Amino acid sequence: MIKGANLSRSAPIGIFDSGIGGLTVARAINELLPGENLIYFGDTAHLPYGDKSSEAIRYYVSKISDFLYQNNCKALVIACNTASSVLERSSLPPFNKKLVINVVDPLVNWFTNHREIKSIGVIGTKRTIKSGIYLRRLRSKIPEIEVKNLSTPLLAPMIEEGFFNNNISKAIIASYLDKLPEIDALILACTHYPLIKNEISAYYHNKIPLIDAPFLVAEQLANQLDKLELKNNLSKPKHQFIVSDFTDSFEQTARLFFGESVHLKEKNIWKQTGYRL
Ligand code: DGL
Repeated sequence: MIKGANLSRSAPIGIFDSGIGGLTVARAINELLPGENLIYFGDTAHLPYGDKSSEAIRYYVSKISDFLYQNNCKALVIACNTASSVLERSSLPPFNKKLVINVVDPLVNWFTNHREIKSIGVIGTKRTIKSGIYLRRLRSKIPEIEVKNLSTPLLAPMIEEGFFNNNISKAIIASYLDKLPEIDALILACTHYPLIKNEISAYYHNKIPLIDAPFLVAEQLANQLDKLELKNNLSKPKHQFIVSDFTDSFEQTARLFFGESVHLKEKNIWKQTGYRL
């Protein structure tokens, strides 16, 4: 029996990603909900998820979700596009469905309020694009919508290595986006892409909307917590940043994504199960 999530205001919000890119989402949550304690889990031992099988990702995610539940989190944010795309429905037992937020549905909902957009491009990891999640979810709400998928696997490692806002990133971005036909809007379906949003926007001469997760996810979470009367307003919240495999370079890169320096703690949550990293 798993010791369980505590549905009280003071309980923390659990956020996880395959690595540290999900800190872009944690950052927006911290900005919109500054009175909340956060526990962030980055599965750096298994990074990147983008090249893994759906089965492997589901296994990793179920263990991370149990870990966050045991740590009494009141809500779970799946801050990773790849993980969100292989978990078909937005619930992870034992979390309450209402309090599991992924990074796909808030974006799809945004488009339901922008019916003037007729064709959408989606860029993300190979696994996210292969899953076809955005096409399915968008078509279920807007049957006539056109969706063009493109996997852009070089972009995440490029950003992690600090290659953005320079000629190399500009050339790589252009060589990918040249492959997309004309579109009315583009979904940035990867945790890392907010860091190259300006460059992508420049490629399109700032003429089309670029939709990404951080703010929309934070907003949906805030609405849900409000509805369930679970919003906290601590003046000095405490955050924990945990990774399954620590390196100095993860800690340095974390700063880029969270916007301020963070102290990463390592925890191998697979030890007890006998699973070897
Ligand atoms: N966090 C992943 C995503 O948003 C990108 C990195 C990875 O491949 O694990 O899809």
